[in-house]
Amino acid sequence: MPAKLIDGKKLSEEILAKVGKRVSKLKQKPVLAVVLVGNSPASQLYVEKKRQACEKVGVQSKLYSFCESVSQEEVVAQVKELNSDKSVNGILVQLPLPKNFDRNTVLEAVSPAKDVDGFSAENLGKLAIGVEEMISCTASGIIKMIESTGTELKGKNCCIVNHSIVVGRPLTMLLLNKNATVSVCHQFTKNLSEFTKNADVLITATGIPGLIKKEMVKEGAIVIDAGIARVGKKVVGDVEFDSVKEIASAITPVPGGAGPMTIACLIENTVKAAENQ
Ligand code: GUN
Repeated sequence: MPAKLIDGKKLSEEILAKVGKRVSKLKQKPVLAVVLVGNSPASQLYVEKKRQACEKVGVQSKLYSFCESVSQEEVVAQVKELNSDKSVNGILVQLPLPKNFDRNTVLEAVSPAKDVDGFSAENLGKLAIGVEEMISCTASGIIKMIESTGTELKGKNCCIVNHSIVVGRPLTMLLLNKNATVSVCHQFTKNLSEFTKNADVLITATGIPGLIKKEMVKEGAIVIDAGIARVGKKVVGDVEFDSVKEIASAITPVPGGAGPMTIACLIENTVKAAENQ
């Protein structure tokens, strides 16, 4: 039987509707500051989608855009200014940063209370000890999509093909916090299919179109595709959707899966930050 489609767009709209109600109870509109360095069309598109989602639920977004040649010190100084600006509730530094930047130095400059991406050592560290405060938006969006299927994660074999701080690392900890068994794969993993084939829940986010083929997926698995790439004019994920949907029990589409969920979770984190401050 073909897989059930996990509709990330619909789920994200439900989250945004709930978040909108929380916003209406606040005395002041929450404010999200977005720091963008360089002119990558993909980053510009993501930032624009975040701005549109903010507008939809009554969150004010402010863009701090720098050209590629800006120094790391200038960007860190901007982040610090936003930390001490009481009118700003959330700060997001769009990744990737230029190659000459030390990403961790910039991310560490963000005050943990305003770190709506959950990328600071403090927030990632808390997650590692089971305290879930500010969590990576892609990782929490993925958990919400898995849970929307009604699956209990305890004891499930989960395989993540990604080991970044955006997806793989926070997601590993979220899944461990739910007592799942987690294998984390990446570009140096040997025999990837040995791991993917064993997974009750397979999550992939590599940006390599067609990486995950039907033969690599366990029958009845839940398949979450957080990969994104452009093939011609089409936006595609990592999974060979048409064949994999024949054996999976549930699958996310690309686009319309992890993308809108990431944005909804970002807005949710921003409102949470505003409520806490
Ligand atoms: N670049 C790709 N995904 C993300 C994300 O979730 N947050 C930030 N800040 N940058 C990204």
